Amino acid sequence: MRRPTPSSVAAFVLAGMALMSFPVAVAAQDEGRSEITYSLEVSRIVQENCQICHQPGQIGPMSLLTYQQVRRYARRIKDLVVTREMPPYHYDTDVGVQELQGDWRMSEEDIQTIAMWVDAGAPEGDPADLPAPVEFPPIGQWRLASQFGQPDHIIPSTPWTVPANGQDLWWEPQVPTGIVEERCIKAIETKPSVPARGSTHHANSQFMTQDESGEWVSYGRLSEYAYGKLGEVVPSDACRVAPTDSRVSWSIHYYPDGNEVADDQVEVGIWYHDEGFDREASYPQDLRSYSLQGGAGFDIPPHGKLMTQGFHSFDHPVRLDSWQPHMHLRGVAMAIEVFDPATGRREVLSQASNWNAGWNLSHIYEEGHQPLIPAGATLILTGWYDNSADNPRNPDPDQWVAAGQRTTDEMSHAWIAITHLDEEGYQSMVAERDAKPIAMNGAAR
Ligand code: HEC
Repeated sequence: MRRPTPSSVAAFVLAGMALMSFPVAVAAQDEGRSEITYSLEVSRIVQENCQICHQPGQIGPMSLLTYQQVRRYARRIKDLVVTREMPPYHYDTDVGVQELQGDWRMSEEDIQTIAMWVDAGAPEGDPADLPAPVEFPPIGQWRLASQFGQPDHIIPSTPWTVPANGQDLWWEPQVPTGIVEERCIKAIETKPSVPARGSTHHANSQFMTQDESGEWVSYGRLSEYAYGKLGEVVPSDACRVAPTDSRVSWSIHYYPDGNEVADDQVEVGIWYHDEGFDREASYPQDLRSYSLQGGAGFDIPPHGKLMTQGFHSFDHPVRLDSWQPHMHLRGVAMAIEVFDPATGRREVLSQASNWNAGWNLSHIYEEGHQPLIPAGATLILTGWYDNSADNPRNPDPDQWVAAGQRTTDEMSHAWIAITHLDEEGYQSMVAERDAKPIAMNGAAR
């Protein structure tokens, strides 16, 4: 399988630009203008795609609210938009399932508009053409609230003071959930506090329950949060269980950003399916990590590259609901494919060719487009690592890198939310899709 290198992705985008610049230029000429302006076109694109993060108090390092602010970064904006580094959503546009929830990828047309505008000297145009400013939700609000309202249940980590300066820090408390009745989860979001949202790099949580001997053991993953992640949404016909008499085990990774935050708490918000949710008629769903190592370790030599693969199959049909690659600083790309020995069919379901450890996003497939995997088919997970100086995030190409837990080690797994089906449910889902006159990209049956 071809893995586009960042430069070939850029070349592909640039080739597309030459072809597609025509309609936009014509549109400007139709209105008696010869150029794309900030006021008329670019401001609207930036509002829609960038300002949610690039405004005061948000995670973007600078604001992109005015012409002056955008103009100042124009070159850099073009570079990062054309290579699809910004907005930060690393998922290939030309292969696999394209219907995703909370997808931030920009349209090819908007990317070209920005590139042409920058190349033309970033003209302002007539400020009378500017759109009204967008009202963004207050900072610190649950992002899924617009879809589901306030969470039914909020579980905070125990307070801990984040120092102003220092190295990576981990805070790993266990907190009782207070769940007294087993419920089915509809959605989960992890939310750092407003003052610590710059220093909260990852906040992962899992449910713990007691085994027969009273030992607290992992029951299953609750959430895997990193910068920018929206959350987890469980499909309407599936049940991810919130267990009773449980604890949440937190693993919070802080990286001090210059501001001390006293008694910080990260919260996980849970929305449950309604009381009337028919659990009998639903399928069980879980979120687990699937390895790309086949149980073996690996080493990447200095200045070397490596590919690892993991294979997973199920004795029953399954539906993939989300996919979140996890690697560290040498990880540059991951793909998930399916091979069905019954038909000999092998197909890419999802691929991130410009993966970046700075952004751990869960790609949630739209309902009706989640890959349906027959019993006995094999999921093939492939990861690519680049320990050379070509990898801009490589802190030290002279080091050997081994599989391990530290940031400087390498990891290789994907978090995949899976609904476990039976043959009947699988067949009826396949039939429903085959009956729909919509394109399925081949990938999601
Ligand atoms: C989800 C939040 C988010 C969105 C959406 C987003 N950015 Fe960013 N942006 C960031 C963060 C955080 C950084 C800091 C670098 C990093 O973490 O990757 C950044 C960095 C940048 C930089 C580099 C700044 C520098 O100092 O070199 C540019 C330029 C940029 N973004 C432009 C954009 C543009 C243009 C858009 C919209 C098309 C956009 N961003 C959308 C969060 C975001």
